[in-house]
Amino acid sequence: MSNTDKIVPRHVAVIMDGNGRWAERRGFERAKGHEAGAESVRAIVRACGEVGVEVLTLYSFSTENWRRPHAEIQALMGLLQTYLKTELGELMDNNVRLTAIGELKSLPLVVRAALQSVIVATSKNTGMRLVLALSYGSRAEIASAVRDIAQKVKRGQIKPRDIDESVISDHLYTADLVEPDFVIRTSGEYRLSNFLLWQIAYAEIYVTEVEWPDFREEQLALAFQSFKGRKRRFGAVSSSTDVEEP
Ligand code: IPE
Ligand code: IPE
Ligand code: MG
Repeated sequence: MSNTDKIVPRHVAVIMDGNGRWAERRGFERAKGHEAGAESVRAIVRACGEVGVEVLTLYSFSTENWRRPHAEIQALMGLLQTYLKTELGELMDNNVRLTAIGELKSLPLVVRAALQSVIVATSKNTGMRLVLALSYGSRAEIASAVRDIAQKVKRGQIKPRDIDESVISDHLYTADLVEPDFVIRTSGEYRLSNFLLWQIAYAEIYVTEVEWPDFREEQLALAFQSFKGRKRRFGAVSSSTDVEEP
């Protein structure tokens, strides 16, 4: 299939933003916004699976989010634990395989245990891959890849001249995933906030004013409609023939 024929992206990466503002505008605690955001996660996971998205990566908690007030971090970790418990059945029914990227060691033990059990339980599923980015920061990920590569050079397993782009990609958390071709950010912020900086070099970006708790199937359909209309050139000159991904 040519690039322009692609109806839906293969790998959708979402910066789920605006939960706090959604709640504050309604006079609620920020945690209420995160609860409503968890409903959007359910809806979007189901919808992406149904239309044939191969990978859905959700930016759920960044390395920088540890700077938030303790109570908010606790609310988010509690919600994550609840999500992992309540959604296992649905993930199994829909053949979804769940994995996670990030500094998972930093997560509370109970959350890590819940995460690990869903990762194991869904490991044989062959449908959509759902990737939760948790305590994730792109710069930390790249720094960790550089450390790993340096170790291999020191041990004589890699020669410096053999370090190319694919070697770097292979040392990132996302080594076994197709690169994201579509990034969605909700709540109208035009920034990447340390999300998949290496991997989204040529991804199409879609920013909507809609806050994450209000982002449901209809908003996803609008985003995919926008993706469908994009002309992806990958640095080449646009012509009647399609440009291949590098
Ligand atoms: C996104 O919503 C959820 C996380 C970052 C965990 P926010 O909590 O950032 O909501 P705003 O941006 O303050 O509205
Ligand atoms: C990005 O949102 C992180 C997640 C969605 C998990 P933030 O709300 O943390 O980003 P900034 O602070 O607005 O850049
Ligand atoms: Mg935010």
